[in-house]
Amino acid sequence: MYTPTASLLVGLAALKGASAWGTLGHATIAYIAQNYLTDATEAWAKKVLSDTSTSYLANVASWADTYRTTAAGKFSAPYHYIDANDSPPTTCNVNYARDCTSSGCSISAISNYTQRVADARLSAANTAEALKFLVHLLGDITQPLHDEALDTGGNDIKVTFDGYTSDNLHSDWDTYIPQKKVGGSSLADAQSWATTLIASIDSGSYKSLASSWVAKSNVNDAVTSATAWATDANALVCSVVMPDGVAALQKGDLYPTYYNKVIPTVELQIAKGGYRLADWLNKIYSANIAKRDLEGYSEELVSRMAEAAPLPPANRPSKAQLAREAYGGGCGCDRHEKH
Ligand SMILES: *[C@@H]1O[C@H](CO)[C@@H](O)[C@H](O)[C@H]1NC(C)=O
Ligand SMILES: [Zn+2]
Repeated sequence: MYTPTASLLVGLAALKGASAWGTLGHATIAYIAQNYLTDATEAWAKKVLSDTSTSYLANVASWADTYRTTAAGKFSAPYHYIDANDSPPTTCNVNYARDCTSSGCSISAISNYTQRVADARLSAANTAEALKFLVHLLGDITQPLHDEALDTGGNDIKVTFDGYTSDNLHSDWDTYIPQKKVGGSSLADAQSWATTLIASIDSGSYKSLASSWVAKSNVNDAVTSATAWATDANALVCSVVMPDGVAALQKGDLYPTYYNKVIPTVELQIAKGGYRLADWLNKIYSANIAKRDLEGYSEELVSRMAEAAPLPPANRPSKAQLAREAYGGGCGCDRHEKH
């Protein structure tokens, strides 16, 4: 295989709209969420997105990954992850004050866009932007390696997967492990994977778990909620992603042994992301939008919500974040090899 230059890689990533759960994972999360939105939330979301199609959330699920590669959207690259400075596989934990830098992170961004999507003073375009960010970021936060600083979220861990010798662990989790499971990455593939996972939530192995996925979701305290989600996924870095450390992942092809071990967790996290996203949007709707629709615009309420939007702690950028930014083009995302 030839070795593409860094700039070519950034170009390829932009073309594929890839990074974070790949397009397949994000669209699947969106389809799952669509299934659990209330009728009122669905009508609101369709209106905000000006999309009445049957893929209204799936169509925008990877928008944020394209936006981060543009000059205008470069600022949002750190919003896709939080660099937990823990020590897997021995110790896993997320600490918002320690891990969220002054440039922001997934937790501060989820808090910001949760507030913004319900802010009646924003333009239609800014409201749509906030919703598109939420649809994407509630997916990213369930991918364990988006909640980990080690080796730039696993981007620097060179591995072999399914015969591809120039893979890295992060892109395998984002994209190639899910695609191996589903056999494609189209919207139709996402929809069929979503259908399977919805059945597991409604009447299968996830049925007894689903309520615990949203137990800590409180739209009036988005930082605490998103920290709980990040902590949940970060714990999997120690228990599932690299329980025996990094070197153990570099001893041979990750397919089939490692793949078989982790695929149940990949599916669990996608299901969780979709179910949580629906619950979060339903809660935003009932706590803020429905109220406004009923009572009319309340200036006092809106400014109280704006004041409640927290700023990330003024930390210096972490080493991993600087390394990500050094990849070029301002794309803090993973570097995908061609498959
Ligand atoms: C909130 O989102 C807006 C719009 O994308 C952005 O300009 C602002 O910097 C964000 N604030 C925080 C604290 O993330
Ligand atoms: Zn992302």
